[in-house]
Amino acid sequence: MGYIKNLVKKDLLFMPEILHRLHVPLRDRSYPLIIGRGLVGQALSCLNIHPRRCVVVSDARVYPLYGATLTKTLPETPVFVLPEGEASKSWAQLEALTAFCLDHHVDRDTLILALGGGVVGDLAGFAASILLRGLPIVHIPTTLLSQVDSAIGGKTAINTQQGKNLVGTFYQPSGVIMDIDVLATLPADQMLAGYGEILKYALLGDADFFDFLQDHHQGLLDKDPSILAKALLVSAQMKADIVGNDEREQGQRALLNLGHTFGHAIEQVSGFSVLHGHAVLLGLSLAADLSHRLGILPEDQKTRIQRHMLGLPLAIPMATLSISDLMQAMQVDKKKKDDVLTFVLLRGIGEAFIHKQPVPPALIEDVWRAGGAV
Ligand code: GLY
Repeated sequence: MGYIKNLVKKDLLFMPEILHRLHVPLRDRSYPLIIGRGLVGQALSCLNIHPRRCVVVSDARVYPLYGATLTKTLPETPVFVLPEGEASKSWAQLEALTAFCLDHHVDRDTLILALGGGVVGDLAGFAASILLRGLPIVHIPTTLLSQVDSAIGGKTAINTQQGKNLVGTFYQPSGVIMDIDVLATLPADQMLAGYGEILKYALLGDADFFDFLQDHHQGLLDKDPSILAKALLVSAQMKADIVGNDEREQGQRALLNLGHTFGHAIEQVSGFSVLHGHAVLLGLSLAADLSHRLGILPEDQKTRIQRHMLGLPLAIPMATLSISDLMQAMQVDKKKKDDVLTFVLLRGIGEAFIHKQPVPPALIEDVWRAGGAV
């Protein structure tokens, strides 16, 4: 991986397509996050790396859209195309991908390029982390949600019969390239899903960003490039700082789970018919409600958050989800410690904290009921 480490820190090229360069500060494993337009066709140039060999991992939806743009700039490159969808985060696809790479005689200087959303990134990241005990990987996330969240921070995973993301590694990439132009083909429901994670950053750590989103969320959902550039910059910077301080989620990184304890339960009880980012959006509102009921978040702040949610095109059929199923689903949250469910709560907009005391189940049921569950 030395060639990447040495090259990205110096000799940075001036490229007008690059709007922002950030980095995740992890000492000798620090890596750049590059935000810009039209970057897919210049992925290696914007990192200033020149690997002798690459393997591209993508999926059947994204590869036909952006694969040729990426591969035209690469040396002859094998391409592994996954079926689209969450089912690809499986042992079977992990085995198929690792076998594909080994059959193509990858060596430790072979760069894996993950072109796709969270499924591609999580699976390719896992494969990169175990192939020959670690191959370099660069993520080129193609959904808003993967750009602001899953491609940054090195979490990799597959799903098993026991649950989502229960098998995986922490394995940092060598760079992340966030190209605003690939969002042009992203459906509206996926833009809203990405917005869930963006709003999370505002609520957890940046009240000014919340004000910005109140004014500009429609422009963001309509893919205005300058609004997207600002939202990507603030979100990626916050995630980079948090991961830099707590790579393995021993403390502060758990703040990134704001809205997720409620959100995961909604996803699970809906049989995963509700998108993760949509469930997180509603989860943020429910976490605000719980914070208020516990006397921690002032009423006016809770109301601001809930009003903002009402202005979003979010449609989750909560009246079809049973409160007892939702309560049950929360009990298997993998962030549970010593049998106590840990919630991330709000003291104010932009001020999240990890609440370690037990919360009375009756209060949580009240929150579900107020949120429309039956
Ligand atoms: N998506 C939460 C994290 O990366 O920690």
